[in-house]
Amino acid sequence: MRISVTTTNALSQKLPAAVLFTFENERPAGPAGLHQLLRNVGKKEFHGGDKQQLLLHTAGKLRPQRLLLVGLGKRAQFSHETLRRAAGHAVKKLTAAGLDRAAVALPDTASAADAVTDIVDAALLAGYHYTEFKSNDENHTALAALTLCVRDPHGAKQAAARAQVIAESANFAREIGNRPGNVVYPEVLADYARQLAKDCGLKCTVLDKPALQRAKFGGLLAVGSGSTHDPRLIVLEYGAPTGKPVALVGKAITFDSGGISIKPSEKMEEMKFDKCGGVAVLGAMRAIAKLKPAVPVLAVIASAENLPSATSYRPGDIVTSYPGKDKRGVTIEVLNTDAEGRIVLGDALAYARERGARAIIDFATLTGACVVALGPFAAGLLGNDETLQDKIRAAAERTGERVWTLPLWQEYKDKIKSDVADIKNTGGREGGAITAAAFLAKYVGDTPWAHLDIAGTAWTTTEHPYFAKGATGYGVRLLAELLTRWS
Ligand code: BES
Ligand code: MN
Ligand code: ZN
Repeated sequence: MRISVTTTNALSQKLPAAVLFTFENERPAGPAGLHQLLRNVGKKEFHGGDKQQLLLHTAGKLRPQRLLLVGLGKRAQFSHETLRRAAGHAVKKLTAAGLDRAAVALPDTASAADAVTDIVDAALLAGYHYTEFKSNDENHTALAALTLCVRDPHGAKQAAARAQVIAESANFAREIGNRPGNVVYPEVLADYARQLAKDCGLKCTVLDKPALQRAKFGGLLAVGSGSTHDPRLIVLEYGAPTGKPVALVGKAITFDSGGISIKPSEKMEEMKFDKCGGVAVLGAMRAIAKLKPAVPVLAVIASAENLPSATSYRPGDIVTSYPGKDKRGVTIEVLNTDAEGRIVLGDALAYARERGARAIIDFATLTGACVVALGPFAAGLLGNDETLQDKIRAAAERTGERVWTLPLWQEYKDKIKSDVADIKNTGGREGGAITAAAFLAKYVGDTPWAHLDIAGTAWTTTEHPYFAKGATGYGVRLLAELLTRWS
Protein backbone atom coordinates (compact mmCIF):
# COMPACT_ATOMS: atom_id res chain seq x y z
CA MET A 1 0.00 0.00 0.00
CA ARG A 2 1.33 3.41 -0.98
CA ILE A 3 0.94 5.83 1.90
CA SER A 4 1.39 9.55 1.45
CA VAL A 5 0.87 12.63 3.58
CA THR A 6 -0.38 15.89 2.12
CA THR A 7 -1.70 19.25 3.28
CA THR A 8 -4.29 19.26 0.50
CA ASN A 9 -7.83 18.87 1.83
CA ALA A 10 -9.31 15.39 1.39
CA LEU A 11 -12.50 16.82 -0.11
CA SER A 12 -10.68 18.68 -2.85
CA GLN A 13 -8.92 15.65 -4.33
CA LYS A 14 -10.11 13.84 -7.43
CA LEU A 15 -10.06 10.28 -6.06
CA PRO A 16 -12.52 7.37 -5.96
CA ALA A 17 -13.24 8.15 -2.30
CA ALA A 18 -12.62 10.51 0.60
CA VAL A 19 -12.98 9.30 4.19
CA LEU A 20 -14.33 11.63 6.85
CA PHE A 21 -14.30 10.69 10.55
CA THR A 22 -17.03 12.28 12.62
CA PHE A 23 -17.89 12.25 16.29
CA GLU A 24 -21.37 11.43 17.50
CA ASN A 25 -23.90 14.20 16.86
CA GLU A 26 -21.27 16.55 15.45
CA ARG A 27 -21.59 18.01 11.98
CA PRO A 28 -18.42 17.68 9.94
CA ALA A 29 -17.06 21.02 8.72
CA GLY A 30 -16.43 21.44 5.00
CA PRO A 31 -17.40 23.23 1.80
CA ALA A 32 -20.97 23.96 0.72
CA GLY A 33 -21.06 20.80 -1.39
CA LEU A 34 -20.57 18.70 1.72
CA HIS A 35 -23.50 20.32 3.49
CA GLN A 36 -25.73 19.85 0.45
CA LEU A 37 -24.75 16.21 0.38
CA LEU A 38 -25.42 15.66 4.08
CA ARG A 39 -28.62 17.72 4.26
CA ASN A 40 -30.94 14.79 3.62
CA VAL A 41 -29.05 12.17 5.61
CA GLY A 42 -31.28 10.89 8.38
CA LYS A 43 -30.09 10.47 11.97
CA LYS A 44 -30.59 6.73 11.79
CA GLU A 45 -28.63 6.58 8.56
CA PHE A 46 -25.68 8.32 10.12
CA HIS A 47 -25.06 10.37 13.24
CA GLY A 48 -21.39 9.58 13.88
CA GLY A 49 -22.07 6.69 16.25
CA ASP A 50 -19.39 4.13 17.01
CA LYS A 51 -19.14 1.53 14.17
CA GLN A 52 -21.50 3.59 11.98
CA GLN A 53 -20.56 4.10 8.34
CA LEU A 54 -22.21 5.66 5.33
CA LEU A 55 -20.92 5.57 1.78
CA LEU A 56 -22.35 8.33 -0.42
CA HIS A 57 -21.85 9.12 -4.07
CA THR A 58 -20.95 12.76 -4.38
CA ALA A 59 -22.71 13.27 -7.74
CA GLY A 60 -20.48 16.17 -8.68
CA LYS A 61 -21.02 18.09 -5.41
CA LEU A 62 -17.46 17.30 -4.22
CA ARG A 63 -14.31 16.40 -6.12
CA PRO A 64 -13.94 12.85 -4.70
CA GLN A 65 -16.38 10.47 -6.40
CA ARG A 66 -17.52 9.09 -3.09
CA LEU A 67 -17.62 10.15 0.52
CA LEU A 68 -17.26 7.58 3.28
CA LEU A 69 -18.51 8.87 6.61
CA VAL A 70 -17.09 6.94 9.55
CA GLY A 71 -18.47 7.33 13.06
CA LEU A 72 -16.14 7.62 16.04
CA GLY A 73 -18.77 7.61 18.77
CA LYS A 74 -18.68 10.08 21.64
CA ARG A 75 -15.82 12.54 21.60
CA ALA A 76 -15.26 12.13 25.38
CA GLN A 77 -14.59 8.40 24.91
CA PHE A 78 -12.15 8.77 22.04
CA SER A 79 -8.92 6.73 22.22
CA HIS A 80 -6.27 5.41 19.87
CA GLU A 81 -8.22 2.18 19.71
CA THR A 82 -11.37 4.05 18.62
CA LEU A 83 -9.52 5.47 15.65
CA ARG A 84 -7.76 2.19 14.77
CA ARG A 85 -11.08 0.34 14.77
CA ALA A 86 -12.85 3.03 12.76
CA ALA A 87 -10.02 3.18 10.22
CA GLY A 88 -9.91 -0.62 9.95
CA HIS A 89 -13.65 -0.62 9.35
CA ALA A 90 -13.29 2.07 6.69
CA VAL A 91 -10.60 0.17 4.80
CA LYS A 92 -12.75 -2.96 4.76
CA LYS A 93 -15.72 -0.94 3.45
CA LEU A 94 -13.62 0.65 0.70
CA THR A 95 -12.12 -2.62 -0.49
CA ALA A 96 -15.48 -4.40 -0.33
CA ALA A 97 -16.77 -1.69 -2.70
CA GLY A 98 -13.84 -2.40 -5.01
CA LEU A 99 -12.20 1.00 -4.43
CA ASP A 100 -8.43 1.07 -4.44
CA ARG A 101 -7.50 4.67 -3.64
CA ALA A 102 -8.74 7.07 -0.98
CA ALA A 103 -7.92 10.30 0.81
CA VAL A 104 -8.48 10.44 4.55
CA ALA A 105 -9.24 13.55 6.54
CA LEU A 106 -7.81 13.24 10.07
CA PRO A 107 -10.23 13.69 12.95
CA ASP A 108 -9.71 16.99 14.78
CA THR A 109 -8.01 15.38 17.76
CA ALA A 110 -4.87 16.52 19.53
CA SER A 111 -1.87 15.35 17.51
CA ALA A 112 -1.68 14.70 13.78
CA ALA A 113 1.28 12.36 14.30
CA ASP A 114 -0.76 10.25 16.72
CA ALA A 115 -3.78 10.09 14.43
CA VAL A 116 -1.61 9.26 11.43
CA THR A 117 0.01 6.41 13.37
CA ASP A 118 -3.36 4.93 14.31
CA ILE A 119 -4.78 5.18 10.80
CA VAL A 120 -1.71 3.77 9.05
CA ASP A 121 -1.55 0.93 11.57
CA ALA A 122 -5.18 -0.01 11.12
CA ALA A 123 -5.21 0.44 7.35
CA LEU A 124 -2.25 -1.85 6.81
CA LEU A 125 -3.38 -4.43 9.36
CA ALA A 126 -6.94 -4.45 8.00
CA GLY A 127 -5.65 -4.79 4.45
CA TYR A 128 -3.82 -8.03 5.20
CA HIS A 129 -5.30 -11.44 4.41
CA TYR A 130 -3.60 -14.79 4.19
CA THR A 131 -4.12 -15.77 0.55
CA GLU A 132 -0.92 -17.70 -0.25
CA PHE A 133 -2.70 -20.96 -0.99
CA LYS A 134 -5.95 -19.62 -2.46
CA SER A 135 -5.93 -20.43 -6.18
CA ASN A 136 -8.14 -17.47 -6.96
CA ASP A 137 -8.86 -14.75 -4.49
CA GLU A 138 -11.08 -12.11 -5.96
CA ASN A 139 -12.46 -11.01 -2.59
CA HIS A 140 -9.38 -9.32 -1.29
CA THR A 141 -8.18 -6.62 -3.64
CA ALA A 142 -6.09 -4.54 -1.26
CA LEU A 143 -6.14 -0.78 -1.15
CA ALA A 144 -3.38 0.44 -3.47
CA ALA A 145 -2.94 3.95 -2.10
CA LEU A 146 -3.98 5.95 0.93
CA THR A 147 -3.47 9.71 1.17
CA LEU A 148 -3.49 11.19 4.67
CA CYS A 149 -4.58 14.79 4.68
CA VAL A 150 -3.18 16.87 7.51
CA ARG A 151 -3.27 20.57 8.32
CA ASP A 152 0.27 20.58 9.68
CA PRO A 153 2.63 18.05 8.06
CA HIS A 154 5.10 18.57 10.91
CA GLY A 155 5.92 15.15 12.37
CA ALA A 156 3.12 13.54 10.38
CA LYS A 157 5.29 12.30 7.53
CA GLN A 158 7.78 10.73 9.91
CA ALA A 159 4.96 9.18 11.94
CA ALA A 160 3.44 7.69 8.79
CA ALA A 161 6.74 6.20 7.64
CA ARG A 162 7.45 4.75 11.08
CA ALA A 163 3.95 3.29 11.44
CA GLN A 164 4.23 1.77 7.98
CA VAL A 165 7.48 -0.04 8.83
CA ILE A 166 6.00 -1.37 12.04
CA ALA A 167 2.65 -2.46 10.61
CA GLU A 168 4.35 -4.13 7.65
CA SER A 169 6.58 -5.97 10.13
CA ALA A 170 3.46 -7.15 11.94
CA ASN A 171 2.04 -8.37 8.62
CA PHE A 172 5.35 -10.07 7.85
CA ALA A 173 4.96 -11.95 11.13
CA ARG A 174 1.31 -12.74 10.37
CA GLU A 175 2.19 -14.25 7.02
CA ILE A 176 4.72 -16.61 8.62
CA GLY A 177 2.42 -17.30 11.55
CA ASN A 178 -0.41 -18.30 9.21
CA ARG A 179 1.71 -20.78 7.25
CA PRO A 180 0.99 -24.40 8.16
CA GLY A 181 3.31 -26.89 9.81
CA ASN A 182 4.11 -28.74 6.59
CA VAL A 183 5.49 -25.51 5.16
CA VAL A 184 7.16 -23.91 8.16
CA TYR A 185 9.29 -26.12 10.41
CA PRO A 186 12.36 -25.11 12.45
CA GLU A 187 14.79 -25.28 9.54
CA VAL A 188 12.49 -23.11 7.42
CA LEU A 189 12.05 -20.59 10.22
CA ALA A 190 15.84 -20.40 10.48
CA ASP A 191 16.00 -19.70 6.73
CA TYR A 192 13.51 -16.85 7.16
CA ALA A 193 15.68 -15.41 9.93
CA ARG A 194 18.82 -15.67 7.79
CA GLN A 195 17.09 -13.99 4.87
CA LEU A 196 15.77 -11.23 7.13
CA ALA A 197 19.25 -10.67 8.54
CA LYS A 198 20.65 -10.41 5.02
CA ASP A 199 17.91 -8.02 3.88
CA CYS A 200 18.09 -5.62 6.82
CA GLY A 201 21.61 -5.91 8.14
CA LEU A 202 21.31 -8.04 11.26
CA LYS A 203 23.70 -10.67 12.55
CA CYS A 204 22.22 -14.17 12.43
CA THR A 205 23.46 -17.38 14.04
CA VAL A 206 21.59 -20.66 13.80
CA LEU A 207 22.37 -23.67 15.97
CA ASP A 208 21.32 -26.89 14.23
CA LYS A 209 20.96 -30.27 15.95
CA PRO A 210 24.68 -31.16 16.15
CA ALA A 211 25.49 -27.66 17.45
CA LEU A 212 22.67 -27.91 20.01
CA GLN A 213 24.04 -31.27 21.13
CA ARG A 214 27.58 -29.91 21.52
CA ALA A 215 26.33 -26.95 23.57
CA LYS A 216 23.94 -29.14 25.64
CA PHE A 217 20.59 -27.53 24.80
CA GLY A 218 18.89 -30.48 26.47
CA GLY A 219 15.42 -28.95 26.65
CA LEU A 220 15.12 -27.92 23.01
CA LEU A 221 16.58 -31.25 21.89
CA ALA A 222 14.15 -33.26 24.03
CA VAL A 223 11.08 -31.42 22.75
CA GLY A 224 12.26 -31.71 19.14
CA SER A 225 13.23 -35.36 19.43
CA GLY A 226 9.93 -36.77 18.12
CA SER A 227 10.06 -35.06 14.76
CA THR A 228 12.11 -35.70 11.63
CA HIS A 229 12.32 -31.91 11.41
CA ASP A 230 15.18 -31.13 13.79
CA PRO A 231 15.01 -28.22 16.24
CA ARG A 232 16.91 -24.96 15.83
CA LEU A 233 18.04 -22.15 18.09
CA ILE A 234 17.88 -18.94 16.07
CA VAL A 235 19.84 -15.91 17.25
CA LEU A 236 19.55 -12.44 15.69
CA GLU A 237 21.58 -9.44 16.82
CA TYR A 238 21.04 -5.74 16.26
CA GLY A 239 23.40 -2.94 17.28
CA ALA A 240 26.75 -2.61 19.00
CA PRO A 241 28.03 -6.04 20.08
CA THR A 242 29.72 -4.41 23.10
CA GLY A 243 26.62 -2.94 24.77
CA LYS A 244 24.36 -4.98 27.04
CA PRO A 245 21.39 -5.90 24.86
CA VAL A 246 17.73 -6.12 25.60
CA ALA A 247 16.96 -9.76 24.84
CA LEU A 248 13.75 -10.83 23.09
CA VAL A 249 13.02 -14.51 23.52
CA GLY A 250 10.34 -16.37 21.58
CA LYS A 251 8.67 -19.77 21.65
CA ALA A 252 8.42 -21.16 18.12
CA ILE A 253 6.86 -24.61 18.19
CA THR A 254 6.04 -24.94 14.50
CA PHE A 255 3.38 -27.51 15.33
CA ASP A 256 2.31 -28.63 18.80
CA SER A 257 0.49 -31.97 18.75
CA GLY A 258 1.22 -32.38 22.45
CA GLY A 259 3.69 -35.19 21.71
CA ILE A 260 3.20 -38.48 23.59
CA SER A 261 0.75 -36.61 25.87
CA ILE A 262 -1.20 -36.00 22.68
CA LYS A 263 -3.87 -33.32 22.45
CA PRO A 264 -7.48 -34.02 21.50
CA SER A 265 -7.91 -33.64 17.73
CA GLU A 266 -10.51 -30.89 18.00
CA LYS A 267 -8.83 -27.58 17.11
CA MET A 268 -5.44 -29.24 16.98
CA GLU A 269 -4.92 -27.53 13.61
CA GLU A 270 -4.70 -24.23 15.50
CA MET A 271 -1.42 -25.43 16.95
CA LYS A 272 0.33 -24.27 13.78
CA PHE A 273 0.09 -20.93 15.59
CA ASP A 274 2.26 -22.23 18.44
CA LYS A 275 5.23 -20.56 16.74
CA CYS A 276 3.74 -17.09 17.06
CA GLY A 277 5.90 -15.95 20.01
CA GLY A 278 9.08 -16.63 18.07
CA VAL A 279 7.58 -15.18 14.92
CA ALA A 280 6.60 -11.98 16.80
CA VAL A 281 10.24 -11.65 17.84
CA LEU A 282 11.26 -12.09 14.20
CA GLY A 283 8.79 -9.40 13.10
CA ALA A 284 9.98 -7.06 15.84
CA MET A 285 13.59 -7.51 14.70
CA ARG A 286 12.55 -6.50 11.19
CA ALA A 287 11.08 -3.25 12.52
CA ILE A 288 14.06 -2.67 14.81
CA ALA A 289 16.58 -3.20 12.00
CA LYS A 290 14.76 -0.61 9.91
CA LEU A 291 14.04 1.96 12.65
CA LYS A 292 17.48 1.71 14.27
CA PRO A 293 16.88 2.43 17.97
CA ALA A 294 19.83 3.32 20.25
CA VAL A 295 19.64 0.15 22.34
CA PRO A 296 21.25 -3.12 21.15
CA VAL A 297 18.83 -6.04 20.81
CA LEU A 298 19.44 -9.77 21.00
CA ALA A 299 16.72 -12.08 19.67
CA VAL A 300 16.64 -15.74 20.70
CA ILE A 301 14.05 -17.99 19.08
CA ALA A 302 13.69 -21.58 20.23
CA SER A 303 12.10 -23.65 17.49
CA ALA A 304 11.01 -27.29 17.48
CA GLU A 305 8.14 -29.46 16.31
CA ASN A 306 6.34 -31.37 19.07
CA LEU A 307 5.26 -34.76 17.69
CA PRO A 308 4.74 -38.27 19.07
CA SER A 309 6.98 -40.97 17.63
CA ALA A 310 9.34 -43.77 18.59
CA THR A 311 12.03 -41.18 19.27
CA SER A 312 9.92 -38.71 21.25
CA TYR A 313 10.67 -37.65 24.78
CA ARG A 314 8.24 -39.20 27.23
CA PRO A 315 6.41 -38.50 30.46
CA GLY A 316 8.76 -39.39 33.31
CA ASP A 317 11.90 -38.42 31.41
CA ILE A 318 14.33 -36.16 33.20
CA VAL A 319 16.03 -33.68 30.89
CA THR A 320 18.78 -31.18 31.63
CA SER A 321 18.55 -27.60 30.35
CA TYR A 322 21.26 -25.55 28.69
CA PRO A 323 24.00 -24.94 31.34
CA GLY A 324 24.29 -21.19 30.68
CA LYS A 325 25.77 -18.73 33.18
CA ASP A 326 25.62 -21.05 36.19
CA LYS A 327 27.36 -23.81 34.18
CA ARG A 328 24.77 -26.18 35.63
CA GLY A 329 21.60 -26.89 33.74
CA VAL A 330 18.29 -27.04 35.57
CA THR A 331 16.94 -30.62 35.63
CA ILE A 332 13.31 -31.07 34.60
CA GLU A 333 10.99 -33.94 35.36
CA VAL A 334 8.69 -34.21 32.35
CA LEU A 335 5.17 -34.92 33.57
CA ASN A 336 3.44 -33.91 30.38
CA THR A 337 5.09 -33.65 26.97
CA ASP A 338 2.43 -31.08 26.00
CA ALA A 339 3.95 -28.58 28.44
CA GLU A 340 6.81 -28.22 25.96
CA GLY A 341 6.93 -24.46 25.54
CA ARG A 342 8.43 -23.79 28.95
CA ILE A 343 11.10 -26.44 28.29
CA VAL A 344 12.36 -24.87 25.06
CA LEU A 345 12.07 -21.39 26.57
CA GLY A 346 14.17 -22.45 29.57
CA ASP A 347 17.10 -23.14 27.25
CA ALA A 348 16.59 -19.86 25.36
CA LEU A 349 16.26 -17.80 28.55
CA ALA A 350 19.41 -19.38 30.01
CA TYR A 351 21.23 -18.49 26.80
CA ALA A 352 19.97 -14.86 26.82
CA ARG A 353 21.03 -14.48 30.45
CA GLU A 354 24.46 -15.92 29.70
CA ARG A 355 24.85 -13.39 26.89
CA GLY A 356 24.63 -10.59 29.47
CA ALA A 357 21.19 -9.23 28.64
CA ARG A 358 20.23 -6.09 30.58
CA ALA A 359 16.59 -7.21 30.38
CA ILE A 360 14.80 -10.21 28.94
CA ILE A 361 11.30 -10.19 27.46
CA ASP A 362 9.78 -13.44 26.28
CA PHE A 363 6.73 -14.04 24.10
CA ALA A 364 5.02 -17.42 24.07
CA THR A 365 1.70 -19.09 23.28
CA LEU A 366 2.34 -20.87 26.53
CA THR A 367 -0.86 -21.97 28.23
CA GLY A 368 -4.51 -22.70 27.58
CA ALA A 369 -4.98 -21.54 31.17
CA CYS A 370 -4.11 -17.99 30.12
CA VAL A 371 -6.85 -18.13 27.48
CA VAL A 372 -9.28 -19.33 30.14
CA ALA A 373 -8.28 -16.44 32.40
CA LEU A 374 -8.23 -13.53 29.95
CA GLY A 375 -9.91 -14.74 26.78
CA PRO A 376 -8.65 -13.37 23.47
CA PHE A 377 -8.58 -9.79 24.81
CA ALA A 378 -5.24 -9.53 26.61
CA ALA A 379 -1.92 -11.27 27.03
CA GLY A 380 -0.85 -12.35 30.51
CA LEU A 381 2.08 -10.31 31.83
CA LEU A 382 4.33 -11.76 34.50
CA GLY A 383 7.91 -11.19 35.62
CA ASN A 384 10.33 -10.09 38.29
CA ASP A 385 10.70 -6.37 37.62
CA GLU A 386 8.09 -3.63 38.14
CA THR A 387 10.00 -1.03 36.08
CA LEU A 388 10.16 -3.32 33.06
CA GLN A 389 6.48 -4.17 33.46
CA ASP A 390 5.61 -0.45 33.59
CA LYS A 391 7.40 0.08 30.29
CA ILE A 392 5.59 -2.85 28.70
CA ARG A 393 2.21 -1.68 30.00
CA ALA A 394 2.83 1.80 28.54
CA ALA A 395 3.84 0.43 25.12
CA ALA A 396 0.85 -1.95 25.11
CA GLU A 397 -1.50 0.89 25.99
CA ARG A 398 -0.24 2.85 22.98
CA THR A 399 -0.51 0.03 20.43
CA GLY A 400 -3.70 -1.58 21.70
CA GLU A 401 -2.02 -4.94 22.30
CA ARG A 402 -3.47 -5.26 25.75
CA VAL A 403 -1.65 -6.92 28.64
CA TRP A 404 -2.95 -7.88 32.08
CA THR A 405 -0.62 -8.46 35.00
CA LEU A 406 -0.79 -11.75 36.89
CA PRO A 407 1.01 -12.38 40.21
CA LEU A 408 4.05 -14.60 40.61
CA TRP A 409 4.05 -15.37 44.33
CA GLN A 410 6.23 -17.98 46.01
CA GLU A 411 3.25 -20.34 46.42
CA TYR A 412 3.13 -20.76 42.62
CA LYS A 413 6.85 -21.49 42.51
CA ASP A 414 6.37 -24.18 45.16
CA LYS A 415 3.88 -25.95 42.87
CA ILE A 416 6.57 -26.94 40.35
CA LYS A 417 8.99 -28.53 42.83
CA SER A 418 9.80 -32.10 41.84
CA ASP A 419 10.64 -35.16 43.96
CA VAL A 420 13.26 -36.37 41.51
CA ALA A 421 14.57 -33.29 39.67
CA ASP A 422 14.96 -29.53 40.25
CA ILE A 423 11.54 -28.78 38.81
CA LYS A 424 8.66 -30.51 37.03
CA ASN A 425 7.08 -29.19 33.88
CA THR A 426 3.51 -28.89 35.11
CA GLY A 427 2.07 -27.43 38.29
CA GLY A 428 -1.45 -28.80 37.87
CA ARG A 429 -4.54 -27.14 36.42
CA GLU A 430 -4.97 -24.39 38.99
CA GLY A 431 -3.18 -21.17 38.11
CA GLY A 432 -1.70 -22.87 35.05
CA ALA A 433 -0.55 -19.67 33.34
CA ILE A 434 1.28 -18.63 36.51
CA THR A 435 2.97 -21.94 37.34
CA ALA A 436 4.23 -21.96 33.74
CA ALA A 437 5.79 -18.53 34.34
CA ALA A 438 7.19 -19.77 37.67
CA PHE A 439 9.01 -22.46 35.67
CA LEU A 440 10.53 -19.79 33.40
CA ALA A 441 11.61 -17.71 36.40
CA LYS A 442 14.05 -20.50 37.26
CA TYR A 443 16.18 -19.52 34.27
CA VAL A 444 16.54 -15.74 34.51
CA GLY A 445 18.17 -15.29 37.91
CA ASP A 446 18.02 -11.62 38.85
CA THR A 447 18.10 -10.32 35.27
CA PRO A 448 15.04 -8.07 34.87
CA TRP A 449 12.57 -10.27 33.00
CA ALA A 450 9.03 -10.11 31.69
CA HIS A 451 6.97 -12.93 30.22
CA LEU A 452 3.99 -12.41 27.93
CA ASP A 453 1.65 -15.37 27.54
CA ILE A 454 0.08 -14.66 24.13
CA ALA A 455 -1.89 -17.92 23.84
CA GLY A 456 -5.15 -15.94 23.60
CA THR A 457 -3.98 -13.04 21.45
CA ALA A 458 -1.60 -14.53 18.84
CA TRP A 459 -4.40 -15.44 16.47
CA THR A 460 -8.09 -14.73 16.14
CA THR A 461 -10.88 -17.13 15.21
CA THR A 462 -13.45 -14.36 14.73
CA GLU A 463 -13.46 -11.24 12.55
CA HIS A 464 -11.94 -8.22 14.24
CA PRO A 465 -12.20 -4.55 13.19
CA TYR A 466 -8.66 -4.63 11.84
CA PHE A 467 -7.60 -8.28 11.84
CA ALA A 468 -8.75 -11.00 9.48
CA LYS A 469 -9.07 -14.49 10.97
CA GLY A 470 -5.65 -16.01 11.67
CA ALA A 471 -2.41 -14.68 13.09
CA THR A 472 -2.55 -11.15 14.54
CA GLY A 473 1.16 -10.41 14.79
CA TYR A 474 0.56 -9.67 18.47
CA GLY A 475 3.74 -8.33 20.07
CA VAL A 476 5.45 -6.90 16.98
CA ARG A 477 4.03 -3.40 17.37
CA LEU A 478 4.36 -3.53 21.15
CA LEU A 479 8.05 -4.48 20.92
CA ALA A 480 8.79 -1.91 18.23
CA GLU A 481 7.15 0.77 20.37
CA LEU A 482 9.00 -0.38 23.48
CA LEU A 483 12.47 -0.58 21.94
CA THR A 484 12.35 2.55 19.80
CA ARG A 485 11.50 4.52 22.95
CA TRP A 486 13.74 2.56 25.33
CA SER A 487 15.50 4.62 27.99
N1 BES B 1 0.75 -24.40 23.03
C1 BES B 1 0.05 -24.86 24.15
C2 BES B 1 -0.77 -23.77 24.82
C3 BES B 1 -2.01 -23.34 24.09
C4 BES B 1 -3.16 -24.08 24.16
C5 BES B 1 -2.01 -22.16 23.40
C6 BES B 1 -4.30 -23.65 23.51
C7 BES B 1 -3.14 -21.71 22.77
C8 BES B 1 -4.30 -22.46 22.82
C9 BES B 1 1.03 -25.39 25.20
O1 BES B 1 2.16 -25.99 24.72
C10 BES B 1 0.29 -26.40 25.99
O2 BES B 1 -0.07 -27.40 25.43
N2 BES B 1 0.09 -26.15 27.29
C11 BES B 1 -0.61 -27.02 28.12
C12 BES B 1 0.12 -27.13 29.41
C13 BES B 1 -0.40 -28.21 30.32
C14 BES B 1 -0.12 -29.57 29.72
C15 BES B 1 0.28 -28.07 31.65
C16 BES B 1 -2.00 -26.46 28.32
O3 BES B 1 -2.15 -25.24 28.40
O4 BES B 1 -2.96 -27.23 28.33
MN1 MN C 1 1.84 -28.05 24.26
ZN1 ZN D 1 2.78 -25.35 22.84
